[in-house]
Amino acid sequence: MALPSTLLVFIFISLIPPSFCCPVDQKQALLPFKSHIFNASNSSADSSLFGLDSWNSTNPDCCTCDRVVCDSSSRAVIALHLDSINPLLFLEPKILSPEELNLDENFFHAKIPEVIGNLTKLQHLSLQQNDFHAEIPSSLLKLNQLQVLDLSNNSLSMVIPPDIGNLSKISTLALSKNDFTGGIPPSIRNMSKLETLKLENNMLTGEIPSWLFTIKKLRNLLL
Ligand SMILES: *[C@@H]1O[C@H](CO)[C@@H](O)[C@H](O)[C@H]1NC(C)=O
Ligand SMILES: *[C@@H]1O[C@H](CO)[C@@H](O)[C@H](O)[C@H]1NC(C)=O
Ligand SMILES: *[C@@H]1O[C@H](CO)[C@@H](O)[C@H](O)[C@H]1NC(C)=O
Ligand SMILES: *[C@@H]1O[C@H](CO)[C@@H](O)[C@H](O)[C@H]1NC(C)=O
Ligand SMILES: *[C@@H]1O[C@H](CO)[C@@H](O)[C@H](O)[C@H]1NC(C)=O
Ligand SMILES: *[C@@H]1O[C@H](CO)[C@@H](O)[C@H](O)[C@H]1NC(C)=O
Ligand SMILES: *[C@@H]1O[C@H](CO)[C@@H](O)[C@H](O)[C@H]1NC(C)=O
Repeated sequence: MALPSTLLVFIFISLIPPSFCCPVDQKQALLPFKSHIFNASNSSADSSLFGLDSWNSTNPDCCTCDRVVCDSSSRAVIALHLDSINPLLFLEPKILSPEELNLDENFFHAKIPEVIGNLTKLQHLSLQQNDFHAEIPSSLLKLNQLQVLDLSNNSLSMVIPPDIGNLSKISTLALSKNDFTGGIPPSIRNMSKLETLKLENNMLTGEIPSWLFTIKKLRNLLL
């Protein structure tokens, strides 16, 4: 017996598991979630920086979106990997320029962005325990009001910037537990207000300079 072709098509479609894509309601829930991440800051940070441009209404299957993991049989969203969305990139220094910024223990796993250097009123910057990597951005050395700079317990590398001594108001400089290489920059000598210097647990090489012991206010030194 020959079945009408439209019926054949119908049977064929019915045999396809209905859940080839992520559930529609889950897809629709991702979009406002994304807007909230970005709109909350009202910033110009581009979502494509974080791979979230694939979270869009024309993408038929949210399981193909970056940072989204679906169950292989049910296709339900089972994981959202939103690590490394670096909040420092949402800074709007023209509108908001705090004197103190503390982002300790957030595990951002990102670079410290250059835009940090626009927060020119900062006196106290603490970014410890975040898995920040790569070098200290040179823009950070423009923060000439800084009194406390704590970047300890990250994965920062390369040399300690030679011009770090430009931060002339610093009383506490903590760079411990990173991967800094090279020597102790001579410009530190110019930090006349320095009371606490923590450099331990890095990969620094060279001699301990004798001038360190001539910095008058230095009371805590960890090498
Ligand atoms: C976020 O901003 C976009 C464009 O500016 C807008 O279309 C969207 O509705 C906003 N979302 C929320 C949740 O405010
Ligand atoms: C967000 O930014 C737009 C344009 O820069 C501005 O007109 C609006 O007032 C801002 N909204 C908030 C809540 O700051
Ligand atoms: C939407 O996501 C798809 C799939 O990742 C991508 O090819 C497309 O360029 C995106 N559209 C926009 C407007 O970003
Ligand atoms: C940061 O400062 C530089 C130089 O003054 C400027 O060109 C840039 O637009 C600023 N960035 C932000 C996000 O304000
Ligand atoms: C450094 O960070 C690790 C996690 O990355 C944490 O377990 C450890 O306690 C921290 N150490 C210090 C001295 O803060
Ligand atoms: C440090 O200060 C000197 C002298 O003012 C200046 O020439 C240099 O560009 C500064 N370095 C940085 C990284 O800002
Ligand atoms: C210390 O500061 C003085 C005056 O600002 C500058 O001339 C000198 O080069 C600095 N020394 C170091 C080692 O950076």
